[in-house]
Amino acid sequence: MPVRMRSGEGGIVLVFSTSDKGGTGRSVTSCNLAYRLCLSGRTVAYVDFDFGSPTAGALFEISTVERGVDRNGVHSYLLGEHDAVTRVDVAAATDRGGLRRGPRLSRLMLLPGDQGGAEFLSRDQAIVDRCARLLLELEQEFKVVIVDLSAGRSAALEIVLHATATAPLASRTARWLVFHRWTRQHILAASGLVHGKHGLLEMGEVYGHNRDELLESVRYVRTAVSGRAARAAQQRPAQVAWLDEQDKALRQLANNNRLGTTAVLGETPMEPVLQWREQIILDADVNAHIANPETGLAYGELARRLVDPATWRRL
Ligand SMILES: Nc1ncnc2c1ncn2[C@@H]1O[C@H](COP(=O)(O)OP(=O)(O)OP(=O)(O)O)[C@@H](O)[C@H]1O
Ligand SMILES: [Mg+2]
Repeated sequence: MPVRMRSGEGGIVLVFSTSDKGGTGRSVTSCNLAYRLCLSGRTVAYVDFDFGSPTAGALFEISTVERGVDRNGVHSYLLGEHDAVTRVDVAAATDRGGLRRGPRLSRLMLLPGDQGGAEFLSRDQAIVDRCARLLLELEQEFKVVIVDLSAGRSAALEIVLHATATAPLASRTARWLVFHRWTRQHILAASGLVHGKHGLLEMGEVYGHNRDELLESVRYVRTAVSGRAARAAQQRPAQVAWLDEQDKALRQLANNNRLGTTAVLGETPMEPVLQWREQIILDADVNAHIANPETGLAYGELARRLVDPATWRRL
C-alpha cells in the first residue's frame, strides 16, 4: 500500500474542477483560482481537460490559443499522437498587461486542449496511463496542478478517476471541486454528480478509490451568488423579502443534499464584469472600481482555503 500523502505535506496538490452542468463558472473560477495561487507565490499548471470546449486560453487572454492548439494539445497527447503537451507560459503569452509576470506573480503554465477535439469515446488503459504520466510529471514541477474537466459524467472525469486510483498517483493529494450555481436545479445536479448513480463516488469506487476518502476530498463551490448586501440593495421590499426566502430555501435544499456549509469550499459573488466578459479579475480591476472588491476577495479566499490543511480535515 502506498503511503497516502496528507494535505499540508509539501503543499502539493492536484485539483480537479468538475461540475454536472455546463456554464457553472467552473473554468472562470478555476482560472481565477490559479491566478490567486500564483499571487500567493505558488507555481501552478492549468491543464485544459475540457475536451469539448478547451477555451482556457481565452480566459487567460492568449489570442494564439484561445480555442486550444492546432496540434500537440492535451487531447491528442492522451490519444498517443505525441509525447509532449504544448506548454504556454501565461505571463509571457498573454495579451493582458496586468497578467504579465510581475515581481509578485509566480509561474503559471497553461497546457491547452486541442482545437475542435471532441469529447472522448474511449477510456482505455493506454489513455489512463498517459494521463497518469502527465499528472505525475506536472506534480513534480508545480506546487498546484489544476485540471479543468468536461462537465457531467464525462470521459474526462472517468479517465482522471481511474488514473488517480492507480499507483503511484494514488499516493498523491487530490482535491475534487464541484462547481454549481445557486439554484435548485444546480444544487440537485451537483449532489447527483457526487452521490448519484454513476457519480463520482460510485465510479471512483469501481476504479479502486476508497469511498470515504474520496468524499473527504470533495468540496463544492457556489458561483455567482447574490449575497445579502446585493439583495438588500434591491429597490422593492417585496423583492428583497422574496429573495431572502429563496436563499433560505436553497440553503435548506443544499443541507438536505449533503452540500451544507462543511462541504463547501466557498462561494463567489455575482460579478457584473464576469456577466459581460470571462476574464481574470486583477487587483487593478478592483482598484479601478470596475470589479467589485468582494470578487477579488472571494477568489483569494478560495485559493487560501484550497491549500489550507484545515479545510480538508475529516467532515
Ligand atoms: N461570479 C460570477 N458572476 C457573474 N458571472 C459569472 C461568475 N462566474 C462565472 N460567471 C460567468 O458564467 C459564465 C459561465 O462560466 P464558465 O465558462 O466558467 O462556466 P463552465 O462551467 O466552465 O462552462 P462550460 O461547461 O461551458 O465549460 C461565463 O460567462 C462567466 O463569465
Ligand atoms: Mg468551462
